[in-house]
Amino acid sequence: MQNPKEYITQNKERFINELIELLKIPSVSADPAFSQDVLNTADAVQKALLQAGCDTVEIFETEGYPIVYGEKIINADLPTVLVYGHYDVQPADPIELWDSPPYEPVIKKTALHPEGAIFARGACDDKGQMYMHVKALEYMTKTDQLPCNVKFMIEGEEEVGSNNLAVFVENNKEKLANDIILISDTGMIANDVPSITTGLRGLSYVEVEVTGPNRDLHSGLYGGAVANPINILTKMIASLHDENNHITIPGFYDKVEDLSAEERAEMAKAPFVLDDYQNALDIDSVYGEEGYSTNERNSIRPTLDVNGIWGGYIGEGAKTVIASKAYAKISMRLVPNQDWKDITELFKTHFESIAPKGVSVKVTPHHGGQGYVTPIDTIGYKAASKAYETTFGKKPIPQRSGGSIPIVALFEKELESKTILMGFGLDSDAIHSPNEHFGVWNYLKGIETIPYFYQFFTDMNK
Ligand code: BES
Ligand code: MN
Ligand code: MN
Repeated sequence: MQNPKEYITQNKERFINELIELLKIPSVSADPAFSQDVLNTADAVQKALLQAGCDTVEIFETEGYPIVYGEKIINADLPTVLVYGHYDVQPADPIELWDSPPYEPVIKKTALHPEGAIFARGACDDKGQMYMHVKALEYMTKTDQLPCNVKFMIEGEEEVGSNNLAVFVENNKEKLANDIILISDTGMIANDVPSITTGLRGLSYVEVEVTGPNRDLHSGLYGGAVANPINILTKMIASLHDENNHITIPGFYDKVEDLSAEERAEMAKAPFVLDDYQNALDIDSVYGEEGYSTNERNSIRPTLDVNGIWGGYIGEGAKTVIASKAYAKISMRLVPNQDWKDITELFKTHFESIAPKGVSVKVTPHHGGQGYVTPIDTIGYKAASKAYETTFGKKPIPQRSGGSIPIVALFEKELESKTILMGFGLDSDAIHSPNEHFGVWNYLKGIETIPYFYQFFTDMNK
């Protein structure tokens, strides 16, 4: 019987070339200019799933971009794995910061990827990681080793909030019934330090608008006599953190789950080199909430960050003006037990309350989602752990991530099953940034590891 490693060695070039073809299609869900490309990507995923051995693959239209759903049911008595991923990508801009065009994939070596990495938008998030599952399925069907049933649900709106997927899941619970959900859309610590993601943060994303005078004013004639919305907005934003970098919104921390000393000690065992971390980012110091380590700050603690801020004159040269309006986009990353809708309300009430006389404030919620933690004493986690141990030769470390995949909490609520997050990317793979890439080694390692998960999960269910 052929093992995955042999099959991968024989098919390596084709596996890489197929992914490269998929990466050439700019499936940017946020920008309507790319809508035909997003639809073409859904078609490409459908073809790939059929080629890999799914019996049926349907394209479900939604009010937004379609969901590609495929399945191969071999025996109703066997367990069912539901694979979720997304075929949409983040916008590539600022495009001038890419060393090679974002939709013309190239393979280049890097310090962390000595065997080469594929550079393209979506290489890691999530086309490359999603496609590992397609190729793992191909291996299992072509070598007659698929041990259980499999369903694939690949969406095209993850990067814009998955609103239509939520509706699809609520309306198709029976179709989507499964024993475990499997997702590769996160990362791991390092290629020689495998880890499994056991938590995701929630999210509340809001936009704020501060309005002062009814028109832009001459900053000499009116300066000093009326509230300047940009001055006021920046002051209000600055007040959202205190001198210890705690968030000052009343009630913000009320439901935050406190980890036990044991859990924090366990977390602190994960390898982390402060100098490497700082050097990789060209910073001379880390920064954050007093009393917590870097790994805690970016995983088990909630945050508030301005993602963009604008207003006034930003063209060439100088224009002496007091703008009528100032704006900012703000994200709050949340931890388990914090409800994103409650937090959005707390933010709105507080932000409105701190506005001084002379301006008015509008807070518009964008989107959000709940956080997620998965227990490690389940069959799903144990099967994943054993799969990594088989292919990496090391037991993976459970690690909570700072990122968000809001639909995961909804899966648990609606489908009543746990999610296993088998991510093979690295934090340095620059997802959402210029020069996103995915290691060829990581891609192939993922394809190799996934079939073992299916095998162990099926065995452990017996
Ligand atoms: N795949 C990422 C999330 C991620 C990346 C989680 C790395 C953990 C490690 C996903 O595509 C993403 O970008 N999510 C967004 C939220 C979404 C609502 C736009 C995020 O985390 O900003
Ligand atoms: Mn993703
Ligand atoms: Mn993303």
